[in-house]
Amino acid sequence: MEKEQKVTVRRIKGAKGKRRQLVMLTAYDQPFARLIDEAGVDIVLVGDSLGNVVLGYKNTRPVTMADMVHHTKAAARGVKRALLVADIPYHAVSVANAKRLIAAGAQAVKIEGLKGVKEIIKAGVPIMGHLGYLPQTMGKPTVQTSGRLIRQAKELAAAGIFALTLEMVEPQLAREITEAIGVPTIGCGSGPFCDGQVVVTYDLLGLSDWQPRFARPRVELKQIARQAIRDYIGSVRA
Ligand code: KIV
Repeated sequence: MEKEQKVTVRRIKGAKGKRRQLVMLTAYDQPFARLIDEAGVDIVLVGDSLGNVVLGYKNTRPVTMADMVHHTKAAARGVKRALLVADIPYHAVSVANAKRLIAAGAQAVKIEGLKGVKEIIKAGVPIMGHLGYLPQTMGKPTVQTSGRLIRQAKELAAAGIFALTLEMVEPQLAREITEAIGVPTIGCGSGPFCDGQVVVTYDLLGLSDWQPRFARPRVELKQIARQAIRDYIGSVRA
């Protein structure tokens, strides 16, 4: 069988306007990174959702650079083909920290908002932007004015980002942004008009305690795992 080519930043950028939608999923460790890479995802994201999904925090804000480096290294051991992108925590945005994530095995980093983007791209690190709901800086999802979001998206595109995550942006506005910029948009609860979609893998697999409305689980793994564990406990005790 022919070996599938490694996904590059250039290939993701070149996917703009093509019929094939991009797919990004999160992973924070080697087994999940390997599973979703082998399944054929385009981008594996070591998201700062790490904080609430696997570290047990209420939100993403306590996540540190040390956490991100540790989990990026683990995920990198599982990814062979997909592009590996890692989040920089908002409070730690700097050229040096972007380079630390690249040294840990990421091919690109994702940053919420506009802070530091130009400097980091200038330093040679590819950046995926992130606009709309910004969990690191906002308490809860708030309605963004459309003019401001479109301006920010254009500013990020002009700065040289290779793709833009749009989280919880109203679908028609996500469509306007997608049509206004020359790099792919990846929607997270932002409707069907983006160039790709992302969800947290634990939500997709029914492993989360809280389920966003836009991420319908395709399987209830938590229930299946609980039953398997109970069966094991029962059989040992018997
Ligand atoms: O941290 C994360 O998992 C993310 C996605 C939800 C886009 O940023």
